[in-house]
Amino acid sequence: NKGKYEHYMQKEIHEQPESLTTTMRGRLKHGGSTKAKTVLLGGLKDHIKTIRRSRRILFIGCGTSYNAALAARPIIEELSGVPVTMEIASDLVDRQGPIYREDTAVFVSQSGETADTLLALEYALENGALCVGITNTVGSAIARNTHCGIHINAGCEIGVASTKAYTSQIVVMAMLALAIGDDAISSQARREAIIDGLFDLPNKVREVLNLDQEMKDLAKLLIAEQSLLVFGRGYNFATALEGALKVKEVSLMHSEGMLAGEMKHGPLALVDENLPIIVIATRDTCFSKQQSVIQQLHARKGRLIVVCSKGDAAAVCPGGSSSCRMIEVPQVEDCLQPVVNIIPLQLLAYHLTVLRGYNVDQPRNLAKSVTTQ
Ligand code: M6R
Repeated sequence: NKGKYEHYMQKEIHEQPESLTTTMRGRLKHGGSTKAKTVLLGGLKDHIKTIRRSRRILFIGCGTSYNAALAARPIIEELSGVPVTMEIASDLVDRQGPIYREDTAVFVSQSGETADTLLALEYALENGALCVGITNTVGSAIARNTHCGIHINAGCEIGVASTKAYTSQIVVMAMLALAIGDDAISSQARREAIIDGLFDLPNKVREVLNLDQEMKDLAKLLIAEQSLLVFGRGYNFATALEGALKVKEVSLMHSEGMLAGEMKHGPLALVDENLPIIVIATRDTCFSKQQSVIQQLHARKGRLIVVCSKGDAAAVCPGGSSSCRMIEVPQVEDCLQPVVNIIPLQLLAYHLTVLRGYNVDQPRNLAKSVTTQ
């Protein structure tokens, strides 16, 4: 049931304040005046010590689920101190990459039925790794065949383009980072700040959804473009990949997400006054580097659309907002910022698709659950 919405994708984008609340329900503990704020992940409680002691954590997934894991990677590394490697499921299987008994392999999948991810799971089980599932579907093959796991609880997702499952996956993995790092006194203040940020996240998401009309206006400007680049780094490299994936899969416009740190190693050659480029430049430790990326793109007359923190427009864009189009988003804890930042890009992909007259919930050639290799 689409309720007041025209399409499932639109409904699922707009219900993210609620889906995120459901994802966190019963899992965050406020702590009283004496108790510390903590996270409780029932499905992992017997395995958390093993995960903490593992030699390596591998994140394995496809498409949007892979991107969600990429967004969470920095906070998992920071709070666990365990090296994290990223694996696209099909590539891991193609290479038969080494996996050991001392590894924790985390399988991320909305449907829990993706054939590539399932094959990678079989492979990791054969090699003796501890296998953890992060899925949105109770009783799915990945949920059943992993040793332990966390349900995303985002609610049923119908649009082929994954939206609310993506933001809930990031929140689940941020909670996983908090749970793994729970025994370290040195990071307690950081963990508590993240927990406070999680409590407030649905409100911030509600706020960023107010950009709907602005993103529709931007979509009108971009409607006839052939191509769109999206640059991000750090926590928001994933935002660039995921924003570009959303645009290409539903609006059928060519779009590429790129690591801003790689800009000078090739992509800069594409920059001219015609190609639209989205740069993610919200406040975090990469901010000054992103400012210099913007200056370099500006010097080459790049057509810039910049996602920045609220109130930062003048500081971020060299010629002021007359030379760049600015999208201001609320600032949240750095590791949660990808949840906020993807929303204007989801809205852009949605409006571009509707304006271009394509099927937004059932893009051509795609299936919701990819059960064949
Ligand atoms: O169900 P899964 O999360 O395992 O699906 C993985 C990908 O097929 C999926 O995320 C795909 O990239 C989406 N259509 C993206 O919106």
